[in-house]
Amino acid sequence: MKLASMSSCLDMSDIVKLLFIGDIVGKPGREITRRVLPELARTHDIDLVIANVENAAGGNGITRDVGESLRDYGIQVMTTGNHVWDKKEALSYILDEPRLLRPANYPKGVPGQGHFLARTTQGIPIGVVNVMGRIFMNPLDNPFVVVENDIATLRSTEEKCIILVDIHAEATSEKKAMGWHLDGKVTAVVGTHTHVQTADETILPHGTAYITDVGMTGPHDSIIGVSIKPVLQRFINGLPARFDTATGNPRLNAVVISADINTCHATSIERIDLSEEDIEP
Ligand code: FE2
Repeated sequence: MKLASMSSCLDMSDIVKLLFIGDIVGKPGREITRRVLPELARTHDIDLVIANVENAAGGNGITRDVGESLRDYGIQVMTTGNHVWDKKEALSYILDEPRLLRPANYPKGVPGQGHFLARTTQGIPIGVVNVMGRIFMNPLDNPFVVVENDIATLRSTEEKCIILVDIHAEATSEKKAMGWHLDGKVTAVVGTHTHVQTADETILPHGTAYITDVGMTGPHDSIIGVSIKPVLQRFINGLPARFDTATGNPRLNAVVISADINTCHATSIERIDLSEEDIEP
């Protein structure tokens, strides 16, 4: 674990702590979340837990049952990305569950919302925004424009609120650009989708915590969550192969972000990469 920090002598009652869990993949990802999250949240004194869940159901998509299980494990807001509709029932589930987000830059009329205003048990407002990149991905609306609209909508309800943006994108450049685009305008910009945790967590000059990719909560002895053999075979011979979720070496990848509720700026970002054995009972 590594800590990027700008903190000085803040009163701890002015600090709110967010845990953002990187892409939860299949049953191995759900299981390690169930086992590790309570202790992780307790030791870090977490006020709000957010996770990207677009691959939580069978390795692709999200279902009502899986979403409700993840909520029971302690996840309060769920973000997604390009796999959000892989399980068709997500189209109806998202209408009943406003804490499940889809990328805000889907065209008008698509079910669901791209932002949610949560509150901590102390009543502190925390906005979450989900957008998707367009480089090497489906060409949705411009995330750099849409994200500002969603931030404005949150601020029209709560002028002073902590805001975290999940930019679900393939290209490092697009995520870095989003970080600089929103520096000073939101509390945190975190990248998801590649399933590989990057070591570039930082606090940008105007107070926004940033990481290019939070990583994957799922089986790490895999090719980004999928069993190695069929993926390797396809790379070698180009023939179709059935891809299944791997099982080996489940790990939880996340970041803990601390923020000052007076300025809504981040004071630290800490990277987490844990196996079950790393958590003391
Ligand atoms: Fe994705």
